[in-house]
Amino acid sequence: MKVTVVSRSGKEVIKGGIDLGDSATVADLQEAIHRRSKARKFYPSRQRLTLPIQPGSKERPVVLNFKKSLKDYCDGNLDYLTVVFKDLGSQVSYRTLFFWEYLGPLVLYPIFYYFPVYQYFGYKGERIIHPVQTYALYYWCFHYFKRILETFFVHRFSHATSPLSNVFRNCAYYWSFGSYIAYCVNHPLYTPVSYHQMKIGFGFGLLCQISNFYCHILLRNLRKPDGNGGYQIPRGFLFNIVTCANYTTEIYQLLGFNIATQTVAGYSFLAVATIIMTNWALAKHRRLKKIFDGKDGRPKYPRRWVILPPFL
Ligand SMILES: NC(=O)c1ccc[n+]([C@@H]2O[C@H](COP(=O)([O-])OP(=O)(O)OC[C@H]3O[C@@H](n4cnc5c(N)ncnc54)[C@H](OP(=O)(O)O)[C@@H]3O)[C@@H](O)[C@H]2O)c1
Repeated sequence: MKVTVVSRSGKEVIKGGIDLGDSATVADLQEAIHRRSKARKFYPSRQRLTLPIQPGSKERPVVLNFKKSLKDYCDGNLDYLTVVFKDLGSQVSYRTLFFWEYLGPLVLYPIFYYFPVYQYFGYKGERIIHPVQTYALYYWCFHYFKRILETFFVHRFSHATSPLSNVFRNCAYYWSFGSYIAYCVNHPLYTPVSYHQMKIGFGFGLLCQISNFYCHILLRNLRKPDGNGGYQIPRGFLFNIVTCANYTTEIYQLLGFNIATQTVAGYSFLAVATIIMTNWALAKHRRLKKIFDGKDGRPKYPRRWVILPPFL
């Protein structure tokens, strides 16, 4: 089979095209493009291959699935295929992305607790450490350590990679909020909340962290280890009432931390994280409703809240 690889402007990307056997898969084509690209720059996860569409058409192009045979995309003529190539730019694995974004808060927070950083901000006096500041340190570090462990040992991601630029964007978000919160909670002028309020906050937050972990286990069990990364209807525990039980418990665990520590920085992070997770939850809810539409033997997605607390 002869495959012509063109850019979105129609320019040939691999001069003279690529000859492949009849049983070749999309993955074989991606490997061939990789081998033939200049300086072997376009490794498979950088490539987005689609079928050509008519100029001016508003249709979304069909994205080639690396596991499928090229024949599946041939329209009548099995000897010839044209694919459109897009360079997705440098990629990193999802594990790398998550590791770096969570490592920042995990490492930066203790610096504000253990080291005399406040003298560089003009506070010369001795710093008295309140019990809430110590518990907050344990709570915070436990949370991000849990997230790193989940990244490596629990989550089964559908996409192998993410653009490298997301590492910088996500790190900027987590590292700056982590430092801002650590700065406020460990500040020499910090005023602790009552002992009672601290206990309620951390107790509630911890319960939500454990629930969040359980939600991630339920999500993991939706995919087989060697599966194709597809989506299933999440069921069990809070998933029976809310599509994104994992985001819901994540928001509440952050609320628990804020009840116990009560800082403007912490509540700002809670507000931003709630907006982000609500948007993602709406998209995930829409996707599941689209996949499980009750047609052609597919089950119908049950009635559920999208995320709590906004009660959507
Ligand atoms: N503080 C913040 O701003 C913030 C923001 C976002 C997330 N978080 C936290 O980070 C955690 C991870 O977030 P995330 O957005 O990367 O992932 P996620 O949506 O929590 O999903 C975790 C894993 O489960 C998979 N999954 C989700 N729904 C599925 C379904 N219906 N069927 C099969 N598999 C499914 C996901 O697959 P895919 O790879 O296909 O997605 C992913 O690998 C969250 O649960 C939350 O605790 C915090």
